[in-house]
Amino acid sequence: MKVVFKLGKFLFPLKIQTEKLKDYVKMFEEMFKEGKKLLIVTGGGEVAREYIRVAREYGLDEATCDQLGIEVSRLNAYLLLSMLGENAYPEVPKSLREVKRFFHHGKIVVCGGLTPGHSTTAVGALAAEVIRADCYVIATDVDGIYTRDPKIYKDAEKLEVVDTSEVFKMASQGRFWAGTYELDPLAIKVIERSKIPTYFIDGRKTENLKKVLAGEKIGTYIKPKQ
Ligand code: UTP
Repeated sequence: MKVVFKLGKFLFPLKIQTEKLKDYVKMFEEMFKEGKKLLIVTGGGEVAREYIRVAREYGLDEATCDQLGIEVSRLNAYLLLSMLGENAYPEVPKSLREVKRFFHHGKIVVCGGLTPGHSTTAVGALAAEVIRADCYVIATDVDGIYTRDPKIYKDAEKLEVVDTSEVFKMASQGRFWAGTYELDPLAIKVIERSKIPTYFIDGRKTENLKKVLAGEKIGTYIKPKQ
């Protein structure tokens, strides 16, 4: 089974929790030993947001802000792959071609951002496409996709299943600046065109990643539109 995991900012706050990362490393090692082929994409987290904030306040262009986000996400990837030791490919891929090449070595590949203008969630979708993953799991700090932002609206309802065209509509209404590409339209389009079964789950509970692979109904299933 080939799986792509995207680990968002919940795992990379300003003060990274070593214990939390250790839990993740242990779980990925177990999955790897069970024979699962893993590709992990790390986001830039809060540190990336800080760099982007300063760069933008200074008046730097958006592409430069994106580059800063990419660099930080690669640093997070390097931290995680180093912790995974010999179970991981020892380099962070810098292009989709490298993602594919490194993955063929059979070890866990850990990747950050690739190019300006989108999120690491889109990188995860593209990586899932090139390695022909069986599924894509987006781990975040919410327990699913809601009709409205659950952090703002009390009446927001959680969706168990949502069609890519519906998510696309929601994503298109969002902001589109460096640092704010959560569930960006590119990710959704890639999921749709390659029909990648995608799960949007709460990553704050480490075991949720195992549960979703075991077929438990948690989070939101993003169903590729036929
Ligand atoms: P992400 O926004 O993907 O980080 O990357 P994250 O921490 O995972 O965020 P959540 O949890 O999904 O919200 C940080 C920033 O780096 C730039 C973008 O500006 C992005 O917002 N980036 C990242 C790119 O421009 N291209 C990439 O391929 C990846």
